[in-house]
Amino acid sequence: MIKQVVEISLGERSYPIYIGDNILHGFVDKFKDKFNAVKAAVITNSTVWDLYGGRLTESLTAGAIDYELILVPDGEKAKSLSVAGQVYGGLIKKGFERKDVIVALGGGVVGDLAGFVAATYERGVPFVQVPTTLLAQVDSSVGGKVAVNHELGKNMIGAFYQPAFVYIDVSTLNTLPGKEFAGGMAEVIKYAFIKGEPLLGLIQEKKRAILGKETGVLSEMVRICCSIKGEIVEKDERDAGVRAYLNYGHTLGHAIESTTRYDYSHGQAVAVGMVFAARLSQRLGMVGEDVVELHKRVISAYGLPVTVSGAGAVELVQVMERDKKRTGGEHVFVLLDGVGNPVVKNIDEDTLVSVLSEFLREV
Ligand SMILES: NC(=O)c1ccc[n+]([C@@H]2O[C@H](COP(=O)([O-])OP(=O)(O)OC[C@H]3O[C@@H](n4cnc5c(N)ncnc54)[C@H](O)[C@@H]3O)[C@@H](O)[C@H]2O)c1
Ligand SMILES: [Zn+2]
Repeated sequence: MIKQVVEISLGERSYPIYIGDNILHGFVDKFKDKFNAVKAAVITNSTVWDLYGGRLTESLTAGAIDYELILVPDGEKAKSLSVAGQVYGGLIKKGFERKDVIVALGGGVVGDLAGFVAATYERGVPFVQVPTTLLAQVDSSVGGKVAVNHELGKNMIGAFYQPAFVYIDVSTLNTLPGKEFAGGMAEVIKYAFIKGEPLLGLIQEKKRAILGKETGVLSEMVRICCSIKGEIVEKDERDAGVRAYLNYGHTLGHAIESTTRYDYSHGQAVAVGMVFAARLSQRLGMVGEDVVELHKRVISAYGLPVTVSGAGAVELVQVMERDKKRTGGEHVFVLLDGVGNPVVKNIDEDTLVSVLSEFLREV
């Protein structure tokens, strides 16, 4: 049953996010509420198709919606212009038109790729996100950033293109590998620190239920995250202002991913980045030591690291230098002026190297 609905208000690009437990079989009802189309292209990979393809497409078939399956490779490599090209080819050969609908079934990779194809195929066809990873449910399926990677940089080719709706079945998280679940939790923890209550309390008090994948608590957690992201996107759809808050922990996080050659996953790197952002906020007098300690407690509780080994301060700062968000000789960080109150600050290089060196020596 659909338990929660979050509305994203963006004028004519507004859309609902449906959240529930075991709801894939009811997908076609929302599909038919929204579209007159009789044809869908389901874009997914074989891992997700084997697990959930049957349930979704049985629902389409039961509602007399024809579907074509388009399988893409599993993993980040699917977010490329060449795979997008193959998907366009599949759509053209199968006679897809503007009135037909693309359905993205999978994690953030499938969602970003399918959304990019939807934004560009015949100058734009409607698409629906059916996210099946925690990261995709709380982050990438909401907000309309769609992209593929270029060999010279991640997400370099893309668009802002909102889905027609998002359909989240939290029971799909039962099959998600532990490391992927923890990676999604890093983004959940990010929302908790930039927004505060009730999410911060929920993830501390309901840790056992969350890790045990209790669907009631998961639905509530995903709902709060979607509404926090929605609120930010409503204010700044095209990422020119407050959407930057969603980069909490990501400035150092990206540098850690790249310096450790992806030994640290995105979620693990962002987790460390958030502890560092809290430390930097504390050094600048904006939060107390208790907030740094709270970061360490919450982040470790979900199996994520609070520090990084094998990367030095100077090396990390050099990598951050190349970060595209750097402006005018200073480093841009999202910091906390108290829990729930993010601020964007320029940090000069000397302060950064000194606080980071000290941070890397902390236990
Ligand atoms: N558009 C945005 O706003 C935004 C935001 C954050 C991240 N992203 C992008 O998201 C991508 C990462 O997404 P991700 O973390 O979901 O990775 P992913 O899509 O690669 O999924 C992780 C793995 O889990 C598998 N999987 C998916 N659902 C499963 C399930 N229910 N059970 C078992 N296995 C399952 C996938 O096949 C894959 O192997 C990156 O490319 C990143 O750039 C986009
Ligand atoms: Zn992230």
